[in-house]
Amino acid sequence: MKHRLTSTLVWTRRVGPNIFQQRFHQPTIARAAKAGQFVHILPADDLLFRRAFSIYAADPKAGTYDVLHQVLGVGTRSLANDPVGSELDTLGPLGNRFTPPPPGHTAVLVGGGLGMAPLRLWALEQLRQSSRRRSAPLPVMILGVRTKAQAVAPYQLAQHGLRPVWASDDGSKGFHGTAVALFDHLVQSGKLNGSRIAVYGCGPEPMMSALAKVCAAHGTFCEVSLERSMPCGYGVCMGCVVQGRDRSGYETFLRVCRDGPVFDASTIVF
Ligand SMILES: Cc1cc2nc3c(=O)[nH]c(=O)nc-3n(C[C@H](O)[C@H](O)[C@H](O)COP(=O)(O)OP(=O)(O)OC[C@H]3O[C@@H](n4cnc5c(N)ncnc54)[C@H](O)[C@@H]3O)c2cc1C
Ligand code: FES
Repeated sequence: MKHRLTSTLVWTRRVGPNIFQQRFHQPTIARAAKAGQFVHILPADDLLFRRAFSIYAADPKAGTYDVLHQVLGVGTRSLANDPVGSELDTLGPLGNRFTPPPPGHTAVLVGGGLGMAPLRLWALEQLRQSSRRRSAPLPVMILGVRTKAQAVAPYQLAQHGLRPVWASDDGSKGFHGTAVALFDHLVQSGKLNGSRIAVYGCGPEPMMSALAKVCAAHGTFCEVSLERSMPCGYGVCMGCVVQGRDRSGYETFLRVCRDGPVFDASTIVF
């Protein structure tokens, strides 16, 4: 769905080193948002290019949605400094969504850094499913950070009953190693059953590539959410392509904004 709409900034909170959560009032996006989708926001300081952000939270009743971003360049700096009440030109919700796990399968969400943004919304959808259908297993969340200080807003996960398993590169939080190494360890040690889980990943591309390979080795269903710089955001400019494979195995180009950002990992040539 492509809507060009005005999003009004409700508040900005710092939730980590240089990491900000922002809430916007925009009822159409809040009602339509699905886990995996993103919004494309035009920062006030850049008249040309929008920036893509995963939808981190959505409250259809209040008509609000949240994004989580790290200040990197001109666009994110401009957004972080916007005063409450700012009106931003936005397209959304854009892109596809995560596919529900097959019946009886546990959803395992593997996030790296701010890759946790779309996974949180997906985990909450899975939790709602589990409470509706008692037989549906609870989701498992594995989150990787460089160091403990970068673990974003763990209380926001705990307040919904999500208890992520953490991994950190320096060993300061949870497992010493990457989120993918921890996932592999949990499968190898039999704590997760590779044939009864569906894996959903979001994080830097080398991490998604590693996750895709581990899942292929275990014969596990895996979807990854990819990031590309997105000039248009809805499929017309071909500025966001990745190399993929079609159903017959032929290599082809896929548009992250329109064919994704969520892809069956086996269709991407990493
Ligand atoms: C589907 C998707 C979801 C994402 N979700 C998140 C998220 O939840 N949180 C998060 O922190 N990041 C997310 N990202 C990454 C985020 O879009 C970038 O971090 C953001 O664009 C950084 O903007 P910036 O201006 O701060 O820095 P930069 O992008 O480094 O800006 C530097 C320069 O790049 C150029 N540029 C920027 N955007 C574009 C564009 N769209 N097309 C062409 N040139 C451009 C501009 O000329 C700009 O001056 C996501 C990306 C995608 C594709
Ligand atoms: S951003 Fe233009 S086709 Fe994807």
